[in-house]
Amino acid sequence: MKIMIGNDHAGVEMKKLLTQQLQEWGHEVINRGTDSIDSVNYPEFGKEVANAVVKEEADLGIIICGTGIGISIAANKVKGARAAVCTNELMADLARRHNNANVLALGARIVGDELAIAITKAFVEGKFEGGRHGTRVDLIESYRC
Ligand code: RB5
Repeated sequence: MKIMIGNDHAGVEMKKLLTQQLQEWGHEVINRGTDSIDSVNYPEFGKEVANAVVKEEADLGIIICGTGIGISIAANKVKGARAAVCTNELMADLARRHNNANVLALGARIVGDELAIAITKAFVEGKFEGGRHGTRVDLIESYRC
């Protein structure tokens, strides 16, 4: 799978950790985040990754800021992006199975390394179930104007 990662200064170390792990699992990782701890504006990275996923330049996106909140709010401004902040594996699994989330948002100051890896694994391996969940996702998409 081709996975694009974007992050602000708070997410640099987590990005490196997840990149290594995703590559070990056989995925291709595209880095669109900052590699510096100098302060940057997280919305730009959320928007860029979400845009790329919607344009199918990547299969899934992972975005990281301090909490995962700000960057996910920015990503969800992009039509067709469904970014989900996940703080445990069940959320990540259900975000894929029920919400067809295409971008995982993580808070580097919220979740530890092992949990972040477990969340990422659940997200990447999760498969959308469609059916009634498809109807609901379609409704969400129809609310965009
Ligand atoms: C940056 O300090 C911090 O505000 C950002 O990483 C994120 O947590 C915003 O939601």
